[in-house]
Amino acid sequence: MATAVRPGEDEKGRKGRRSRARARADALADSAVTIPIAETVPVAPAVPQPSESPVAAAVRARRERKQAAAVAAAALAPRVARAAAEEVEREPEAAEPEPFHDLLGQAIGLRLDAVTREFDTGDMKVAALREVSLEIGPGEFVAVIGPSGCGKTTLLSMMGGLDQPTTGQVYAAGVALDQLSDEALADYRLQRVSTIFQTFNLVPGMSAEENVILPLTLAGVEPEERRSRARRLLELVGLEGRSRMRASRLSGGEQQKVAVARALANRPGLVLADEPTGSLDSVAGERVLNLLRDLNRRGATVVLVTHDPEVARHAQRAVRMVCRTRCSPLRACTGATRSDSVC
Ligand SMILES: Nc1ncnc2c1ncn2[C@@H]1O[C@H](COP(=O)(O)OP(=O)(O)OP(=O)(O)O)[C@@H](O)[C@H]1O
Ligand SMILES: [Mg+2]
Repeated sequence: MATAVRPGEDEKGRKGRRSRARARADALADSAVTIPIAETVPVAPAVPQPSESPVAAAVRARRERKQAAAVAAAALAPRVARAAAEEVEREPEAAEPEPFHDLLGQAIGLRLDAVTREFDTGDMKVAALREVSLEIGPGEFVAVIGPSGCGKTTLLSMMGGLDQPTTGQVYAAGVALDQLSDEALADYRLQRVSTIFQTFNLVPGMSAEENVILPLTLAGVEPEERRSRARRLLELVGLEGRSRMRASRLSGGEQQKVAVARALANRPGLVLADEPTGSLDSVAGERVLNLLRDLNRRGATVVLVTHDPEVARHAQRAVRMVCRTRCSPLRACTGATRSDSVC
């Protein structure tokens, strides 16, 4: 590399300046490959000017690289800003303690179109539901109230895919349940819906913990995860001290709590609760209702069946089923319980 001769400068000084200039040029060359955006931001290459000295060319090259770096920085800036904004948006989720964050699946909306369910008992037909139409949006908390025998449990069975209408259609998440394959329907029942049965339906010979673990086993959850999840759910309903006890030895209220814990095992998007506080004292009942409300607040659709208007007040909307004792049009009335339920 040539350097200009300065007046009074000796050979040693010139050599020193030359080597410093070489080092600067090398550094500039190195910096060219460290600009990350160089490939994506087109920058005109440094074209040597005909009359330009090598030093002037190096200085111009440095200026052009600086400009390229500035263009690159400008191009990167929105991405960096966006990334920072995403960080800010995600931050509260990570920071907030979220005890239920993994308890729920995607909320499910329901629609019942003119659903009729008749039971043929041999000597007569009982219409448990007659032309019931009802819509429940995803994430809603709806209470279904009505007198005994008017078809509330039958209605929940339709919603949960446990029973099918005699006529009419039930849609869950926009899909007609009678159109699902057996496998898809089983998946819906097991993975997406949880029913807290009025009669608990626990396996009497199994412990509380084993009852909660059962749906997790059916869903193929790993053994370690099953146990820790079951314990956590039993804690949530206040039964941590009873987890090893057989269901048959538990009191009615304790069995109801196990039924609640089991219903939440597979992260339901729809919780169907059939009189979930019927066997509980007011404190335990309040705890279960708060749990349902909390689940709903975090996204699950909840349908709560109750006789009790006070319990129904926990919901956002109440649907009243009207019972008119009426005989099946096909059979004479014998005085047995019949109902014609209208929402
Ligand atoms: N499997 C069945 N066979 C015959 N009749 C049935 C069957 N299931 C329900 N029913 C009848 O359908 C009607 C509605 O029953 P359902 O259990 O849905 O009422 P409910 O509103 O839940 O009552 P409760 O408040 O007492 O629990 C009742 O008259 C009942 O006898
Ligand atoms: Mg019932």
